[in-house]
Amino acid sequence: MKVLNFGSLNIDRVYKVVDFVQPGETVLSADYQEFCGGKGLNQSIALARAGVSVYHAGAVGGDGEQLKRALEEAGVKIPFLQVLQQPSGHAVIEVDKSGQNRIIVTAGTNGRIREDYIDGVLEYFEKGDILLLQNEISNIPYIIKRAKASGMQIVLNPSPVNEALYEYPLDLVDIFILNEKEGTALAGVTECDPGKILDCLEKKYPESIFVLTLGADGVCYRGKGEHWRQEAFPVKVVDTTAAGDTFCGYFLAEYVNGKKPAEALLTATRASAIAVGRNGASPSIPTMGEVEDLFQ
Ligand code: RIB
Repeated sequence: MKVLNFGSLNIDRVYKVVDFVQPGETVLSADYQEFCGGKGLNQSIALARAGVSVYHAGAVGGDGEQLKRALEEAGVKIPFLQVLQQPSGHAVIEVDKSGQNRIIVTAGTNGRIREDYIDGVLEYFEKGDILLLQNEISNIPYIIKRAKASGMQIVLNPSPVNEALYEYPLDLVDIFILNEKEGTALAGVTECDPGKILDCLEKKYPESIFVLTLGADGVCYRGKGEHWRQEAFPVKVVDTTAAGDTFCGYFLAEYVNGKKPAEALLTATRASAIAVGRNGASPSIPTMGEVEDLFQ
């Protein structure tokens, strides 16, 4: 079974602030750093650091050498990665004194994923292989339909939510990995109540599995008659950026390795607990060795 992540790659421009900037306000940043990020790149690196062989497809610009290198150094396979003439995607990230973040993403080359390129990549994959997607690249509906038609299993992290997402063929998704805000939006509920979110999602997409992350309140799993819950570990939060991506990559890695949901949730929760204690996106993602050492 091969794993393909068709996803974004961003240069993250990270500003440490005391409090998030308010409308009409100018604030001084205490620290500025650049990291390799993008939900796609982070999740591929999490899969690789969890020990899974993963292919990453997507696009960078001429300024994307560091993004390519970060994937290669983590052991992610990138034979399909495109280098285009436009600038790579980037993110402007504020991290406040409590380690929470606010992110603006501009697509850059992530918005230039064309159908002929998608066809070429998907030719190498077959029935039973896994496709992981987020919502930071163009042409996602086409990728989903095309991959499903060849029998791939579709795993979607529907992040970030935008208007276009509601028009995607979401009934073709096998596993959704989403946080409470994404869950609230997709379920179409007004209240952020995990039980209600999962009830509505199950009704809308009865064939799918849902992994709903709840930050400090842990994570719920629901689907195909199974219910699981995992509490979060209390940790000192430094920077929450990529904690969700770490969870996503680790959960999928455990799924690929045939682990039961309870075990996959536990390992993914442990890995993301380590990630929130570190700065940056991809540099904060632990290896499986680190996860095992810290939680033995
Ligand atoms: O999930 C964190 C990521 O979101 C960052 O790395 C940023 O690039 C945005 O894609």
